[in-house]
Amino acid sequence: MILFLFNALNVSLPMSMKSFKRTLVTAALPYANGPKHIGHLAGAYIPADIYTRYLRNAGEEVLFVCGSDEHGTAIPIQAQKENTSPQYIIDRYHLLLKENFEKLGISFDVYHRTSDEMHHQTAQEFFLNLYEKGLFKEEISEQYFDEEKQTFLADRYIKGTCPNCGFHSAYGDQCEKCGKALSPNELINPVSTLSDKPPVLKTTKHWYLPLNEYEPWLKEWLLEGHKDDWKTNVYGQSKSWIDGGLSPRAMTRDLDWGVKVPIKGAEGKVLYVWFDAPIGYISATKAFFKELEEKSFHYAYPQNSMIKSGQANDWKKWWQNDDSRLIHFIGKDNIVFHCIIFPAMLKAAESNVLPDNVPANEFLNLEGEKMSTSRKWSVEMEDYFKEFENKEDVLRYVLTAIAPETKDADFSWKDFQTRNNSELVAILGNFINRVMVLSHKYYEGVVPVASNLLEIDQQLIKDIQLFQEEIDHSIRHFKFRDGLFALMNIARAGNKYLAEMEPWKLVKTDETRTATVMFNAIQVCATLSWWMDAFMPFSAQNLRIQLNTQKENHVNNSFVQLQSGHTLGQAAHLFSNIEDDIIQKQVKHLEDSKTMVASTVIEATVNPQSELKPLITFDDFSKIDLRVGTVLEAEKVEKADKLIKLKVDLGFEQRTIVSGIALHFTPSELIGQQVCVLANLAPRKIKGIESNGMLLLAENEDGSLKLMQPGGAVVSPGSQIA
Ligand code: 2FM
Ligand code: ZN
Repeated sequence: MILFLFNALNVSLPMSMKSFKRTLVTAALPYANGPKHIGHLAGAYIPADIYTRYLRNAGEEVLFVCGSDEHGTAIPIQAQKENTSPQYIIDRYHLLLKENFEKLGISFDVYHRTSDEMHHQTAQEFFLNLYEKGLFKEEISEQYFDEEKQTFLADRYIKGTCPNCGFHSAYGDQCEKCGKALSPNELINPVSTLSDKPPVLKTTKHWYLPLNEYEPWLKEWLLEGHKDDWKTNVYGQSKSWIDGGLSPRAMTRDLDWGVKVPIKGAEGKVLYVWFDAPIGYISATKAFFKELEEKSFHYAYPQNSMIKSGQANDWKKWWQNDDSRLIHFIGKDNIVFHCIIFPAMLKAAESNVLPDNVPANEFLNLEGEKMSTSRKWSVEMEDYFKEFENKEDVLRYVLTAIAPETKDADFSWKDFQTRNNSELVAILGNFINRVMVLSHKYYEGVVPVASNLLEIDQQLIKDIQLFQEEIDHSIRHFKFRDGLFALMNIARAGNKYLAEMEPWKLVKTDETRTATVMFNAIQVCATLSWWMDAFMPFSAQNLRIQLNTQKENHVNNSFVQLQSGHTLGQAAHLFSNIEDDIIQKQVKHLEDSKTMVASTVIEATVNPQSELKPLITFDDFSKIDLRVGTVLEAEKVEKADKLIKLKVDLGFEQRTIVSGIALHFTPSELIGQQVCVLANLAPRKIKGIESNGMLLLAENEDGSLKLMQPGGAVVSPGSQIA
């Protein structure tokens, strides 16, 4: 009856009432313009991987797609920063990201890239479909153009004086000082941040998706339909966008990097990166099935997939059949794109598949501060791998245990150590090791025969059953922290059981009972190996080796996983302690990079995000001795990607200065430059080299650095700046 009513009203069924045949899991396509840090992992990739691995283990049809996002202005800007081509940037980072994800055990079925020809075609077809249906609004407007760089300027790349408060460094879309939303033509004396020159106004045509027209549908589909099954942070953010009123959004851009707009009169224009990127999920699905049919794998990982055969056309099932379920794992900064814009695009394309859930996470801070790659306040994947060999699961564990599922969370190295030593080693590893060692000691590694179960055994079985149900429920409801906690509760229950049964004492008095206790304890280990698999796949595999079993041997809904008489493998420690010095090294590394950034970057007023520091007196200022210097020599510091060692002529003497600017300048371009130097800074050792002074630099809002230099004619080295 209820079902009938829903159908009659043509309202989509709530998730719990829909039945799905297959689940397509996506993880946000990372921009291929730099390495990714643990915040990205905790935000999207680890939860998506746990979810997918779990569904695969449960025998459900699931596909996990991702790839590199290689368009947008970020890529050419990065290329400019590194003095290279966008192609070089994307090739380099695509490979790096792919390798890092593999190393962390992120089990994509396919890891594609948006520069791939097939993606360009897919995105163009998508655009053309909407275009031919007349769903875009064409608008001609005047936009700022940088004549020197021969490019139209996105709002963020224009600065000027705020008409509201007079702040001289307001962005083209907002004044950071008074908060007023602006459009670039409201700015007084606008300047392009790319060339530092005033831009000119030029007319240009763009194609807009009228999001306002989708408002009634979004209210019904999202605000009504997903009130109860979407996370409150995701629902809340989407609601405030919709309630605030949606406006048409341009789906094209004046840029020469991206997917070309496939219509006449759109030469020199590309698709908006947020139009083409989510279509990347479709392209990745297509690539998977194409490679599956051709049995030639480049982007696909058949070894990860539970889909072993298929046809190129099978991708359609995943994007067109209404029994396909789409789940997007993303960070909170992507919510509007995945909950509003992409669904509106899919709706416009009359897709039967819309995001069923978007379990976006909040942000992960690092040691109490916002993570930032440009400020070097982050832990990047490859740095972690270098420092913590074979500890991929420890990172997966910690980032899941502290995941910012409902609010921002914090990663600290001390907590990382505690969770490893006091949880993974002391609870999980210790339980398994005790069982393995005792089994070898008493039964030569053969699972003993159990006899009558006592109440305490029955209680253990019941507890384990409940924890398993809890893990299942938690994972299916995107509560991975709870799921992991329930998993650890299985180990806690095992430890408690051993402590109460004391088989090491029992063995002296009651062999039959000891055998039963050990039989039960071995089953708990086997159960753990199965449930651990989604969270910590490497350790689960190591445990299976110790138990001499395979994932496929798992018996659903049974306490007994390994029969009496089964021969176990050798005991080995699954986890090992992380010592204080390793942790101190990480903390120091962070602190060093912080002081390095602070000591090399004096933010000029061009960066409006820097708060004005408290007032000082002239006396305070006069303590600072600033001098003009000339760079005589410059060379990279070995084994330090970011450091350059300079010899600077200050007229009265030559100084060695170590500066963290190697990502922004090559040594050769520095030689001969006049620079401003903080000359009376106390000496500091950086990577064993004594640094005497500091270069002054300005940081642009895109993170690029500019040397502070005396303008005009050459100034004698040693001249005082006051
Ligand atoms: O925020 C980001 O890193 C984007 N590259 C995410 C894109 S997700 C999707 F739409 F492809
Ligand atoms: Zn203002």
